[in-house]
Amino acid sequence: MSQPSKAALITGCSSGIGHATALRLVHDGWSVYATARRRETIADLADAGANTLALDVTDEQSMSAAVAVVEEAEGAVGVLINNAGYSQSGAIETVPLEAMRRQFETNVFGLVRLTQLVLPKMRAQHWGKIVNLGSMGGRLTFPGGGHYHATKYALEAISDALRFELRGFGIDVILLEPGLITTEFGDAATASMAAVDSSGDDPYAHFNATVGAVTKGAYEGPMRRLGAGPERVAKVIERAITRSRPPARITITPSAKLSIATRRLMSDRAWDAAMRRQFPQPE
Ligand SMILES: NC(=O)c1ccc[n+]([C@@H]2O[C@H](COP(=O)([O-])OP(=O)(O)OC[C@H]3O[C@@H](n4cnc5c(N)ncnc54)[C@H](OP(=O)(O)O)[C@@H]3O)[C@@H](O)[C@H]2O)c1
Repeated sequence: MSQPSKAALITGCSSGIGHATALRLVHDGWSVYATARRRETIADLADAGANTLALDVTDEQSMSAAVAVVEEAEGAVGVLINNAGYSQSGAIETVPLEAMRRQFETNVFGLVRLTQLVLPKMRAQHWGKIVNLGSMGGRLTFPGGGHYHATKYALEAISDALRFELRGFGIDVILLEPGLITTEFGDAATASMAAVDSSGDDPYAHFNATVGAVTKGAYEGPMRRLGAGPERVAKVIERAITRSRPPARITITPSAKLSIATRRLMSDRAWDAAMRRQFPQPE
């Protein structure tokens, strides 16, 4: 039998973790299909040696076209890195449902659909690695981030189910749980708050403004030091897809490990009290 394809298809490569992962894998000799909604944003990855494709995870046609290109050239997608995602921030009551649907379309449904599209050929070659970009935010919840956290909690369940369902086909599923990673993520989260419904007497105005400021502060202020650059995640991904028995979950950054462990030990009441020290209680 011929060697299985190890070609890597990566979503959301225009910046951050997707970009760093594409670069790292190209440098290390992997066959990389880097994708972005706007292909022109990843011209530098093409220069570096990646194949580049347009792929919007909310657009079925663009996903199936991209998978078809890889399968035509390589036989199958061997490594799928489900990275595309963003945070729709804001108090639950103030985020229009349409924005919440977009959040789930991107972070959850797109990831599931793309996985479904690559699986028949991946199963047929009896080798594959699927890396899902979850988050520390799939294990704990910050106020003002309910929608985003809900998508990342969903990925915990989906990854657990997939891991069991695919093992017998020679496919490993790896869930990454990064903490703060210095990318465009903070800017995108702050910008997402433009979708929030606010009126003159909005009782959430101060709260939502604080959520925006805390997010900005985390990514731009001294808190950055508790995080890591996207290259750290890229390194973890490469190590995981190289292993024959990769771990099911990988938490990235010491502060994410500490936060998850602390949350597990705290009562809900104690957690809420800790959150009230950072966020004003809307009232
Ligand atoms: N940074 C962190 O602190 C952190 C922590 C935990 C988990 N994560 C997760 O890591 C992943 C990557 O985030 P990042 O930190 O690298 O942020 P980033 O720099 O903002 O990158 C996000 C990428 O997702 C893409 N994207 C958004 N919507 C898309 C869609 N509909 N179709 C295809 N691509 C889309 C963006 O493309 P455009 O340029 O087209 O918008 C961009 O390339 C996300 O899933 C995020 O939830 C990040």
